[in-house]
Amino acid sequence: MILRTKRITSNNSDEIYELNHKIFDGQIIYSIEYIEKICSNNNGYISYIDNEPIGYVFCDISYNHIVQKNVATMMSIGVLEKYRNLKIGKHLTEKICKNIGNDVYLYVREENHGAIQMYKNVGFIEIGKIFNYYKFKTGDENAVAMKKNMNDIIN
Ligand SMILES: CC(C)(COP(=O)(O)OP(=O)(O)OC[C@H]1O[C@@H](n2cnc3c(N)ncnc32)[C@H](O)[C@@H]1OP(=O)(O)O)[C@@H](O)C(=O)NCCC(=O)NCCS
Repeated sequence: MILRTKRITSNNSDEIYELNHKIFDGQIIYSIEYIEKICSNNNGYISYIDNEPIGYVFCDISYNHIVQKNVATMMSIGVLEKYRNLKIGKHLTEKICKNIGNDVYLYVREENHGAIQMYKNVGFIEIGKIFNYYKFKTGDENAVAMKKNMNDIIN
């Protein structure tokens, strides 16, 4: 089993789109147009195992409601279920944080305890909560806002 991770390019839009839809299954999915923009700006990484796309992460500049300004934001990260708990999510998170080289922010569903634990393990801290931020067919869910300091990344 060989793991390979590379920066995304325009050639990866379909792979990222497919992974996003498979992993999030109706929740927090992005349009192909948005993913094409992200890929053409090389704002993320994709991981392959034996040449099969199995995980991705991407970032963007986005408005953060807690700090009330536009900030570098980890928009989406996912690993196919079959390949979870192999530290690939952690590897992708660390890679993108190093690449941003500045404070990194994100939102995560309050109930997503696994992801929150992973973010804490790589140095993110909770900075606030937004009630009913996510509007899903199954109901509204709160978001936890998190931040990782640049200094923690460099040291
Ligand atoms: C969140 C996600 C990307 C984690 O990826 P992963 O490759 O399975 O996670 P890792 O193996 O890198 O885990 C790293 C750490 O996070 C923690 N963690 C990960 N998943 C966890 C879970 N379900 N429960 C508890 N802790 C978990 C572990 O403590 C692990 O720490 P370790 O250093 O002690 O091993 C993956 O579970 C996923 O794709 N989930 C669905 C999509 C999603 O929820 N994305 C986040 C949206 S904001």
